[in-house]
Amino acid sequence: MAIKLNHTIVHSKDKRAAAEFFTEIFGLPKAKRFYDFLDVAVANDVTLAFLDADGMDVQMQHYAFLVSEPEFDQIFGRIKGRKLKYWADPGRKEEGKINHHFGGRGVYFEDPSGHLLEIITRPYEGG
Ligand SMILES: [Fe+2]
Repeated sequence: MAIKLNHTIVHSKDKRAAAEFFTEIFGLPKAKRFYDFLDVAVANDVTLAFLDADGMDVQMQHYAFLVSEPEFDQIFGRIKGRKLKYWADPGRKEEGKINHHFGGRGVYFEDPSGHLLEIITRPYEGG
């Protein structure tokens, strides 16, 4: 199969704030302008294209990122450093905790538009 997710639009209340939050939390280079978008590429060449919702309601989406153990420490350190809320579960019931699914670590937190971001050190299938 040669199909790869190439890009997706991340509707944001404020694309600049959202892209900045994302690149700072994840330790990535600044977003690049592309037409109306602020583009951020992740390591598997998927581009997140931050776009102002322009008055439309932002529908909450879920974006999950597979990271290494050292990257988890760095990102989670920034989450705690900013005193952001975080949860062990997508239902946001286990606040202030992380999970250990599939022998790794995982945690959920929100971006400035309310999208639910997740970092995991092991893919869901445990492979
Ligand atoms: Fe998820």
